[in-house]
Amino acid sequence: MNSKSKTNAAARLPRAKGIDMATVYAPKECARKVKRIVLSDMNRTIVQEFITILGMKEKFEAQDVPLPNKVVMFGPPGTGKTLTAFYIAHLLELPLVLVRLDAIIHSHLGETGSNVRKIFDFAKATPCVLFLDEFDALGRMRDSSDEVKEMARVVNTLLQCLDEFGGDSIFVAATNLEEELDPAIWRRFDTKMTYALPTRAERLQYIGLLIGPELTDTGLAAKAAELLDGCSFADLEQIVLKAKRKAIIEDRELDITAIEQALSEYDPRR
Ligand SMILES: Nc1ncnc2c1ncn2[C@@H]1O[C@H](COP(=O)(O)OP(=O)(O)OP(=O)(O)O)[C@@H](O)[C@H]1O
Ligand SMILES: [Mg+2]
Repeated sequence: MNSKSKTNAAARLPRAKGIDMATVYAPKECARKVKRIVLSDMNRTIVQEFITILGMKEKFEAQDVPLPNKVVMFGPPGTGKTLTAFYIAHLLELPLVLVRLDAIIHSHLGETGSNVRKIFDFAKATPCVLFLDEFDALGRMRDSSDEVKEMARVVNTLLQCLDEFGGDSIFVAATNLEEELDPAIWRRFDTKMTYALPTRAERLQYIGLLIGPELTDTGLAAKAAELLDGCSFADLEQIVLKAKRKAIIEDRELDITAIEQALSEYDPRR
């Protein structure tokens, strides 16, 4: 496991060594990444409730109501699924252990099951937010007949790991393709979050965060939010940054013309 952190997070996660399909992010790094997160009202409520419940552990235990600890997120690219995993880690002040499932599967097919187990063992021993990105890779792999048996074993391992998952860690999975997920896996999640392209109000909020309050007050954010209908958050970020760069090299203030130019060059909808 390669640590991106220069802090002592890696030192606190000694058993992460040897798991090379994951990256550990210290809570501080998670906090930095989520400064401009924009969540739909529904998703913000879901996250807040999740965190509140985890803060009332004793009360839930006393009433014998299990705590939620498995979150699945689905929706189009660039809408904030990965960012939400960082956000949850930040709120819980836990390290984020980011695992790319397709890396586990493609690199060592025969060892996929044991890799899955290794990762869950790690999360059992070390409180963290265990994040499996591209979760649909499991579903996809089962299309190929040669790999059906192996993948059936992997899915069984995953089901077992999900059933045994406990302690202070949280499991988070993300997928673009909800329907690709095995229903048996799907129903093991206690928390489900849906992502969509940003609404006009969300575009306005996000562009406002990207360009700052002064330019927002000139009406630029509102114009840009109108112009950039159909863009994901990731597209919005790229286009606004491109426009900012244009304004800097041309030594002028960021304006709607620069954003229009950036859009025509970037064209997310092509
Ligand atoms: N809801 C959001 N709020 C703020 N920024 C966002 C949001 N969604 C995406 N972004 C920006 O786009 C980048 C990519 O987003 P993220 O990785 O969370 O997308 P994703 O939904 O996980 O996409 P994919 O399905 O491709 O993995 C983020 O690092 C951030 O800069
Ligand atoms: Mg992602």
